[in-house]
Amino acid sequence: MPRRPIFAANWKMNKTAREAKLYCAEFSALGIDPSIADVVICPPFTALDSVRTSLPQTIGVGAQNSSNHLSGAFTGEISIGMVAETGCSHVIVGHSERRALFNESPALLSEKLDRVIECGLHAIFCVGETLADREANLTQQVLLSQLQGSLKPILSELSTRWTQLTIAYEPVWAIGTGKVATVDQAQDAHHFIRSTLSGLLGPQAGKGIRIQYGGSVKPDNVKELMAQPDIDGALVGGASLDPRSFYEIIKNGASQ
Ligand code: PGA
Repeated sequence: MPRRPIFAANWKMNKTAREAKLYCAEFSALGIDPSIADVVICPPFTALDSVRTSLPQTIGVGAQNSSNHLSGAFTGEISIGMVAETGCSHVIVGHSERRALFNESPALLSEKLDRVIECGLHAIFCVGETLADREANLTQQVLLSQLQGSLKPILSELSTRWTQLTIAYEPVWAIGTGKVATVDQAQDAHHFIRSTLSGLLGPQAGKGIRIQYGGSVKPDNVKELMAQPDIDGALVGGASLDPRSFYEIIKNGASQ
């Protein structure tokens, strides 16, 4: 079975709930054909509800993070139950900004993944190397330790629920920098991730799990990325903040 493309918008800390509503009205008016791809919009927590109620149900809504704890004395945190109640379908786990700026470790991310999966939502789990890693020829080693460190502790759960998992390969040096990985660099990393997934979860999961590319994806570079055999979609930051540009990314990418 061919893998269905999946395009997700990661707004990061941008747009108030009011601004999000305006975006959704404009984006909905563009009339994305839901048969061509899964489309997910991930606004800040405060806009989850207004985004969910402003978009057709054919478009998914995702949180950018959620707590590893279910409830309790964790001031400022948001639990998976709270996220789920807004009607979210997805949660981004382990974005490189969370790893680098908030010290999120593979073990912590494993717990977060576990909460998302057991709650019945879909996780977009981000992995990727820094420029220093790549220059030291450590890309595969870093990807392997990120994947093993977070997926191994929850293998038994994932073995039956891997359809709830999407991986986003985001080379840190390509995020928000305008530097896109070459298609060969991206394809090599995606292929490596896919074989690692096969090793961990078996060939069926390895073939079936979708792997998005992220890092300076734009309407004019998405086509060549999507032409690679192991690239199944994109996680888009900056270029997703404008509804038309996110729409063009989906349209150009899914037609590949
Ligand atoms: P970018 O961000 O598209 O602005 O590079 C991607 C991401 O961080 O998910």
